[in-house]
Amino acid sequence: MDKLVSLCKRRGFIFQSSEIYGGTGSVWDYGPLGIELKRNLQERWWNEMVRTRENIEGLDSAILMHPRVWEASGHVSGFVDPMVDCRNCRKRFRADDPKIKGTPGTPDAQCPACGMKGTLGEPRQFNLMFKTFMGPVEDSASVIYLRPETAQGTYVNFLNVQQSTRQKVPFGIAQIGKAFRNEITPGNFIFRTREFEQMEMQFFVEPGTDMEWFEYWKAERMRWHRGLGLAEDRLQFHQHTNEELAHYARAAFDVQFDFGGTLGFQEIEGIHNRGDFDLSQHQKFSGKKLEYFDQGSNKRFVPFVVETAVGPNRTLLAILVNGYREEAVEGEEEGRVVLGLKPSLAPIKTGVFPLVKKDGMPEMARKIADDLRPHFTVFYDDSGAIGRRYRRQDEVGTPFCITVDGESAGGNSVTVRERDTLKQERVSVDALREYIGGRIGE
Ligand code: GAP
Repeated sequence: MDKLVSLCKRRGFIFQSSEIYGGTGSVWDYGPLGIELKRNLQERWWNEMVRTRENIEGLDSAILMHPRVWEASGHVSGFVDPMVDCRNCRKRFRADDPKIKGTPGTPDAQCPACGMKGTLGEPRQFNLMFKTFMGPVEDSASVIYLRPETAQGTYVNFLNVQQSTRQKVPFGIAQIGKAFRNEITPGNFIFRTREFEQMEMQFFVEPGTDMEWFEYWKAERMRWHRGLGLAEDRLQFHQHTNEELAHYARAAFDVQFDFGGTLGFQEIEGIHNRGDFDLSQHQKFSGKKLEYFDQGSNKRFVPFVVETAVGPNRTLLAILVNGYREEAVEGEEEGRVVLGLKPSLAPIKTGVFPLVKKDGMPEMARKIADDLRPHFTVFYDDSGAIGRRYRRQDEVGTPFCITVDGESAGGNSVTVRERDTLKQERVSVDALREYIGGRIGE
C-alpha cells in the first residue's frame, strides 16, 4: 500500500486534500491521471447500468435533502457507531475495535494508543452523518445533513422518474454521486474516507419477485467486477449474517475483493434486498403515496427494492492493487513497475515518442499525437532515454507506446510496443487509429 500511495502521488493519480496545510484527515484529491481512471470506471458503470439497459433510468439528485428524509430513512436514529474516547491521549476508537483490551468504561480497559488503563470512557453512540446549517440562522430548525448515501435521493424521486419515463415495474433508477460519512476509523488510503462517491442503482420490483431479482443482480454485478480485470481468485461474495444486516435490509451480499496485507477480503459493493422499507417510510413521513399501479393486474402496491451499491473510489483502489506489479526485465539491471490496467480503463491509452530529437522525428511524432488525441488520451514525450520513457508509461498503466524511429519517415510507419508482452510491431501511420482502437477492446 505504501508503494501505491507513493506512486499515486508521484505520478498524479491521488493527492492528500489540502496537503500544504498538513492535509485533511482521510480526504483525497484526484489528480490528472486519477480523474481519468475514475471517469473511465464511472462511465463504464453508467454504460453498463443505464445506457445499455432499456429498463434503467439515470438520475442526479442533490446532496442536500430535506432533513425529514433522514428521519424517515432511519439514518438519524440508526446510522450510528459506538465509540469511546481516551481521557489521557484524547484519541477516539470504535468501541468494538479489536485492539482495545478489556471493556471500555471499566478500570481494566487499556487504550490501544497510549497504553493507559482505565482512561477509556463508556461507549457513546456517534452518528456518522455530517451536520450543517441551511440559511443564515444556525439553529436546530435549520439543521441539514450531507447525504450519507445517494439511494434516498432516488427513493424520493421514484414517482417523478416513473411517471416522466412511463417505465413499468420492474425497472431501475441509477445514479453516481458524492456521499459523506464522518467515519470514526477512516483509513487505508482511499479505502474508507469521509467524502467519497457511490454508484447506486435501485431496482423496483413487485413484492414476491424480489429474491429472484436479487439473485439476478448478484450475478450481474459479479460479472461486472470480473470485467474490470480483477483477478478471479481475489473476488468473492460475503453473505450478511442477521447481526450484520443493515436496518433496511431483508438480505444482503457483499462483493469482496482481496486487498492483501492486513486488509484481506473487504467489501467493494453491497447488494441489498431493501423490501419496501424505504418507500413505505417516505410515504409515512411525507404523507404522499409512493405506490405503483400495475395496469396488467389492476393492482396497486409499494414496490420492493433490490439495490446495487458500489464505491468507485474503493473499486479504483482494488484496480490499482490488482494491477500493480514489479518485475525483472531480461537484459536490464533495473526492473520495472507496471500497472496492469485493462486498456479501456487506463488513463493514458498511448504514449507517442520520437526515438531521438532530430531528423524530423519529433515533428512526425507530434503530428501523430495530435491526430490521435481526439480519439484517445495520448501522452507525447521526447525527454530522456527511450527505455525510461517506456518505464514511465508502464508505471501508469499505458497499454501502448508508439515510437517514431529512423525508418518511420520513409515507410510512413512506426513501432507500437505493448505494455504487458513488451512486443513491438510495425504499424502503418494511417492504420494507427484503427489498430489502437481495436486493441483497447471492451
Ligand atoms: N445505499 C447503500 C449503501 O450505502 P454501503 O455498503 O454502506 O451501502 C456502498 O456502501 C459502497 O460504498 C461500499 O461497498 C463502498 O464501496 C462504498 N463506501 C461506503 N462507505 C465508504 C467510505 N467511507 N469510503 C469509501 N467508500 C465507501
